[in-house]
Amino acid sequence: MDFSTIFENNEKWIAEKLAVDPDYFKQLSKGQSPEFLYIGCSDSRVTAEDLMGLQPGEVFIHRNVANQVIPTDNNINAVIQYAVEHLKVKYIIVCGHYECGGVKAALHPSDMGQLNSWLQTLRDVRRLHREELEAIEDDHARFDRLVELNVREQCMNIIKIDHVQRSWYKTGFPKIHGWVFDVRTGKLIDLGLKMEQEFAPIREIYDLKPV
Ligand code: CO
Repeated sequence: MDFSTIFENNEKWIAEKLAVDPDYFKQLSKGQSPEFLYIGCSDSRVTAEDLMGLQPGEVFIHRNVANQVIPTDNNINAVIQYAVEHLKVKYIIVCGHYECGGVKAALHPSDMGQLNSWLQTLRDVRRLHREELEAIEDDHARFDRLVELNVREQCMNIIKIDHVQRSWYKTGFPKIHGWVFDVRTGKLIDLGLKMEQEFAPIREIYDLKPV
């Protein structure tokens, strides 16, 4: 693709939007009040708005390698805090995807330089669920399952965050959902995680509710 194509595409996109609503960008510039925070993988095949059918202004987005929520990552902490405290999003979605290169790397350890520390938490997910994963004979099924378990663990990491808990206890929101995008079919799959129930058995470890 020629680099200039992108700017031609942009001009076409502007014309399309203005043809439907001449005030489109005037309205867009007034502010945002999305109900969703989407945390997904940086993978170029997994486009957030497109696969959800959402428009500009409807979803706050953070993407990183293998959709991880790492407590010392200043970037994601700022995104989540802004989304919860200021945008007051109702839903936080962690969306993994099958055929995820980051998850695959965690299944096949090798020295990847700068990526080593980033992938470490994925290896931790593998260790936490080692028994279940090793019981799966088919390599690809094991890979798929680690994608799903990673989503579950990252949802759990969101609940561990102090300001998320504060909001949770005060308003009941944000609700936390785990999804997987199947790049093989285009289907978005809700893993049906019940995070409040999932949190219950580990509440005594992570609950930060003031006593
Ligand atoms: Co990925």
